Amino acid sequence: MKETTGLIEKISLPNATHQHLELSVDPSLQSLKAGQFVMARASEQWEPYLRVPWVPVDLRAGRLIIERPVEETYRVGQSVSLIGECGQQVRFRKGVRNVLFIAYNTAPTPLLMPIRLLLRNKVSTTLVLLGKATDYGTTHLPPEVEVIHGDMDLNWPNQVMTVGWADQVFVCVDQDDEQYRFAQIYERMGERRNEIPKNYLFGLFQSGMACGFGVCDACAVRVSGEVQLACMHGCAFDLTLVKLGIAPGEG
Ligand code: FES
Repeated sequence: MKETTGLIEKISLPNATHQHLELSVDPSLQSLKAGQFVMARASEQWEPYLRVPWVPVDLRAGRLIIERPVEETYRVGQSVSLIGECGQQVRFRKGVRNVLFIAYNTAPTPLLMPIRLLLRNKVSTTLVLLGKATDYGTTHLPPEVEVIHGDMDLNWPNQVMTVGWADQVFVCVDQDDEQYRFAQIYERMGERRNEIPKNYLFGLFQSGMACGFGVCDACAVRVSGEVQLACMHGCAFDLTLVKLGIAPGEG
């Protein structure tokens, strides 16, 4: 892991809420895996602690495609300080055929690169958008992705079928209270299945990241009774192993 500089080569608008920054980057970042990310500081001032995780949504010809809210201001030619690669590759089960992705109250940004990887391998993918995630326009996504809109109460059409059909599920949630929202999803999945097996339901933990390389402990998650760092060992963790904010069933 090292600090390098990326250059914004192009900016486009995939939908009404987000922009895509096409970034030329150091060769060390050109083979980022689905699930990995960089810690970015786009400010041109010296602000050593103000980095945020940037999760690529795609890699094109060695360039990272980064998705950011339209409210943030960037310009073509702007340089960005990057630290990476951070985190681990998302691991799919061998022989996986159907994968369910859920974005709850947040944009599905961290799910998009894993979705593209699966599509390239002819794996069927469904993306469920819940609550505020339904504001995210999806016309730019590959047509093979089945997109389903649900509500704030974690309901969506054909829920029993989509949950039963999925070999694995990956979830991202609003960072306002990440552990509580993961617990809500865990509880709902438990209502729709007899049991939640290991290596089935994963949460992508993103909140609180400040350094990206294991120094600040801000991204600590308790997994199997021990503390793990989302920036080093995540950001995807098996939710059956995570001690969440409330125990499933407590509502
Ligand atoms: S972000 Fe600092 S230890 Fe993970």
